[in-house]
Amino acid sequence: MEFKHIPVMVEEVMDLLRCEPGRTYVDGTLGGGGHGEEILKRTGPDGFLIGMDWDKEAIDEASKRLKPYGNRTRIFRENFIHLPEILKTMKIETVDGILLDLGLSSIQLERGERGFSFRGEGPLDMRMDERKDHTAADLLNALSPEELERILFEYGEERWAKRIAKAIVSEREQEPIQTTESLRRIIYRTIPKRFQSRRIDPATRTFQAIRIKVNEELENLKRVLESGWKVLSKGGRICIISFHSLEDRIVKEGFRRLEREGMMQIATKKPFVPSEEEQEKNPRSRSAKLRCAERI
Ligand SMILES: C[S@@+](CC[C@H](N)C(=O)[O-])C[C@H]1O[C@@H](n2cnc3c(N)ncnc32)[C@H](O)[C@@H]1O
Repeated sequence: MEFKHIPVMVEEVMDLLRCEPGRTYVDGTLGGGGHGEEILKRTGPDGFLIGMDWDKEAIDEASKRLKPYGNRTRIFRENFIHLPEILKTMKIETVDGILLDLGLSSIQLERGERGFSFRGEGPLDMRMDERKDHTAADLLNALSPEELERILFEYGEERWAKRIAKAIVSEREQEPIQTTESLRRIIYRTIPKRFQSRRIDPATRTFQAIRIKVNEELENLKRVLESGWKVLSKGGRICIISFHSLEDRIVKEGFRRLEREGMMQIATKKPFVPSEEEQEKNPRSRSAKLRCAERI
């Protein structure tokens, strides 16, 4: 089946990045190549795009889409934290802009066999980069109850973290937890019915927490804010789109610190959010927050 990812806040991102012919940009989270293609269109005829994604399916998809742009683009299957090394191998010192559109693409979310969705059925995998050693099932079946509780609480802001961690441990003592469905059943059974919201699936927070842990998502984001931004030229901008409050907080605090240190200037006093029209057309965009900072 074909799944298409709809890029979010495209106009806002392009305006903030000030795409112009001849400039060089990095899309660190290429996904289906939606934002990437737009950057290429707006920087034509001679702008250059370095695209990165650690997911093989995303790379295949984006490579197909960006093929018509020929040698105006280079694509790497890499974690975006390795951007400085990649630029070195390309003998590029600085770039004019970086985009990070965090989280999952619809391509990942909707393929049951990747194990990201609590709606579908699939193995508990959740690795965006399938070269990584540990799947979600590996972690769930090995971590101590205390560590499980911490992850659910910190990365999922799950108030029932302790109970769910205990239930996971008692279930795995019977047999290893291998599928998204068995994890979902444990969660439904454990959170008291009267606290189960009808609007937000009770499994949302646990799945989010485990996915963040499997992919070390917050650590990667922190690394970019600590040092990855240094590859920006003066006046170059970084745009980060986040999809939950933990990420947004890290971006907000990271940008503020860089502004205090005189390295960056924040270009979005408040985060941009999708228009009502966009939210209606693309419900997945609802939780998106876009922040931008400029190197000074
Ligand atoms: C929301 S999607 C990006 C969609 C893209 N902007 C588009 O228009 O199609 C996020 C992508 O980032 C990738 N990703 C997340 N963290 C990454 C990391 N640390 N390094 C490389 N890719 C990452 C995921 O594999 C996923 O394909």
